[in-house]
Amino acid sequence: MIRSKRLFVSVILLCTSVAANAQQTDKGLKDYYKTLFPVGVAITPRHLQDSATASFILRHFNSITAENVMKMEPIHPEEDRYNWGGADAIVQFATENGLKVRGHTLCWYNQAPKWMFYDAAGKLVSKDTLLNRLRKHIHDVVSRYKGKIYAWDVVNEAVSDHPNEFLRNSLWYQICGEDFIAHAFRYAHEADPNAVLFYNDYNTEDPVKRNKIYRLLKKLRDANVPVHAIGLQGHWSVKDPSSTSLAAAIEQYASLGIKIQITELDVSVFTNNKMPEQRNFTSEQELLQEQQYTMLFDTFRKYRQHITGVTFWNLSDRSSWLDNFPVRGRKNYPLLFDEKLQPKKAYWKVIDF
Ligand code: GLA
Repeated sequence: MIRSKRLFVSVILLCTSVAANAQQTDKGLKDYYKTLFPVGVAITPRHLQDSATASFILRHFNSITAENVMKMEPIHPEEDRYNWGGADAIVQFATENGLKVRGHTLCWYNQAPKWMFYDAAGKLVSKDTLLNRLRKHIHDVVSRYKGKIYAWDVVNEAVSDHPNEFLRNSLWYQICGEDFIAHAFRYAHEADPNAVLFYNDYNTEDPVKRNKIYRLLKKLRDANVPVHAIGLQGHWSVKDPSSTSLAAAIEQYASLGIKIQITELDVSVFTNNKMPEQRNFTSEQELLQEQQYTMLFDTFRKYRQHITGVTFWNLSDRSSWLDNFPVRGRKNYPLLFDEKLQPKKAYWKVIDF
């Protein structure tokens, strides 16, 4: 009797540990970071129509961003016409599955519709007209998803890359001067006072650009403009940034009392703009990438009190915008999952802490 009771208990224990192991292997990236920050990914509506891809998203990520469909031109191609379909599908998927949504992006010089800047005669519009159009655009988009999109990249890439220029010489800047930035944040805040509002940019660790971004954000914050956070896009490579420049950037931005997210993370395996002789993912690239991802996530965890989210730009090495940028047709391997959606070596490092 005792023996059989023991047997029963051992069988139960065995079953529990098998179940625990199964659960262990079902764990996705987001689960390891559950108590730290959401882990997100940029997707297209098409991903959601394929059930294997949709379950892959749900397994590893608890936040999503539209790669393109919420940008100004795709969502608002003509003054009196919006294209809500793709954005609605993404928000609905998130709502049904309990995912967070980061909205991207409300005011950008790129992928902005031409009509926004010109009148019927083809002349540039006045500052008043442009700001009215911007206000209407932001109000329409933000209100539609109020309460469903918790954070917005309000202004994207307004700071110049040229050492001697502060703001990018875009049509926004040419027509409105610096003011369009503060207005964009105010319009977004009017439309959804609960949304977390981001300034988003790249090369945010470069000391020259970092100081310009800091100067811009400080000025906005001092003027009580509702900018709550900075998005470091995180289009990085196996060599860049260094851990010291990343830490210095995080500390400088955090000193403004704002939150930080990594909004478009990928780690290019290339450090030049040349077409390589070999097209495959080499073991040297694999090792360097593993080391870089390890450093990045060590840093994110170290600064967890400031970092409120990390979003990857694309799902896996099956397809990345870096396959065509900056070198057209150069296959890249920038993500944590390979072309078969399997975890790469870097993945196992990122979850091992
Ligand atoms: C920038 C934008 C993104 C995306 C990438 C390239 O970082 O913010 O929306 O267009 O470029 O895919």
